[in-house]
Amino acid sequence: MKNTLIAPSVLAADFGNLQRDIEMINNSEADWFHIDIMDGVFVPNISYGMPVLEAINRHAKKTIDVHLMIVDPDRYIKTFAELGANILSVHYEACTHLHRTLQAIKAEGMKAGVAINPHTNIDLLEDVINDIDLVCIMSVNPGFGGQSFIENTYAKIEKLKALITKKGATTIIEVDGGVTNKNAKQLVEAGADVLVAGSFVFKAENPTQTIQDLKKLTNF
Ligand code: DX5
Ligand code: ZN
Repeated sequence: MKNTLIAPSVLAADFGNLQRDIEMINNSEADWFHIDIMDGVFVPNISYGMPVLEAINRHAKKTIDVHLMIVDPDRYIKTFAELGANILSVHYEACTHLHRTLQAIKAEGMKAGVAINPHTNIDLLEDVINDIDLVCIMSVNPGFGGQSFIENTYAKIEKLKALITKKGATTIIEVDGGVTNKNAKQLVEAGADVLVAGSFVFKAENPTQTIQDLKKLTNF
């Protein structure tokens, strides 16, 4: 039996009713809060920053999974630890010294994640996979919620799964972008452990039910 985790992306929440939406996640079958931090440089959009994460952390009762879409993320590792991040993912494409960055994240007591853009080859992770707790495979180009899923993602998940097995690593695989009830099961069959879902959850008529349906669909 699978133990697939569902991580709703707060980017798609209603910021005028943020506490309500956080409580909805607290009271649902969701496993993690997925927090998208964008700087307008690494990606062509700015999301939200420290004060908003501080407010989320005050109410959130589940694991906080932070996805940094920013240049030079080393500058903020300590800050995100203090803000309550349990998992901190940096982009492969934004790190010159990725190995050092991963050690710095762990030194702050967080799990270390690496997110990869759709064009980034899995093979590039070979020499660092044993140091990575989580790989976040981007199934859209990062920067915006509500985009359509890139089909090549399935092949990337399979390739990453094979690399993890070959290297005897314990890394888990997260998929982020365009996740719906149409692709969720196939993503898990390919090897995904965690599914991020923003629009599909928050734009649904009943987000709690949608999370429950995703859980059921992906735990077989
Ligand atoms: C995209 C973000 C995603 C996004 C997912 O840059 O990293 O986490 O919020 O949103 P949906 O599920 O709407 O594609
Ligand atoms: Zn994300």
